[in-house]
Amino acid sequence: MSLPTGQEKHVAVRTMFDRIAPRYDMMNRLISLGLDQGWRRVALDLAQVGEGERVLDLACGTGDLSEAARARGATVIGADFAREMLRGARAREIDAEFTCADAARLPIATASVDVVTCGFALRNFVALPEVFSEIARVLKAGGRIALIDADRPKSRLVRFGHSLYFDRFVPWLGARLSDRDAYRYLPESTAYLPPAEELFAMLDKAGLQQVAKKSLLFGSAQILTGVRG
Ligand SMILES: C[S@@+](CC[C@H](N)C(=O)[O-])C[C@H]1O[C@@H](n2cnc3c(N)ncnc32)[C@H](O)[C@@H]1O
Repeated sequence: MSLPTGQEKHVAVRTMFDRIAPRYDMMNRLISLGLDQGWRRVALDLAQVGEGERVLDLACGTGDLSEAARARGATVIGADFAREMLRGARAREIDAEFTCADAARLPIATASVDVVTCGFALRNFVALPEVFSEIARVLKAGGRIALIDADRPKSRLVRFGHSLYFDRFVPWLGARLSDRDAYRYLPESTAYLPPAEELFAMLDKAGLQQVAKKSLLFGSAQILTGVRG
């Protein structure tokens, strides 16, 4: 499968998430062997999400991170450009505001949020520098980020086992239970993610400081953290 870029990627990603929205949560739990919700909790811990804070859950999808942040007493705005994913989020009746928006052009005031979270969406953005600048724009000085995404393990042995699972089994399962193309795209889309040093440089350029990466499950997922300077 050749990976789309530019406007073609924007449309392909949006229509794909609209298509898979009804089975998205079920597939997430299955594919991550139930670990995904724990990783979201780790992200909220790292960003120290607390009572009364204003959290933007960027590319919120069906609202898993939004719900977990709300449970910690935060005021949550979830933003996503796929209407069917947002429909899933709204159906959960989370006490949060959900808005349909592109991550690179957020209808959110400058320096107005304490924390930006983003779960498993970096790979899907057309231009990461644009999204990182937008994150930096909406954050208050001292505001924090926690951005979760997939990753590829470094150890050759773990990488081999991970590849069998992620590159072979996940697309096979996805084709049977949800959508063949979407679950082929999932492992292939990790190619969009630059290595950590490049991500750090982009975040730094956007105005994020103390940027760090936490690896999860032998390097099969990652959380990027940082503080708005
Ligand atoms: C893998 S899902 C993750 C959803 C949710 N954050 C989670 O943790 O389950 C990726 C989400 O990113 C959204 N997305 C991708 N590109 C986007 C963009 N440019 N603007 C807004 N949302 C976007 C998709 O619509 C989709 O809901």
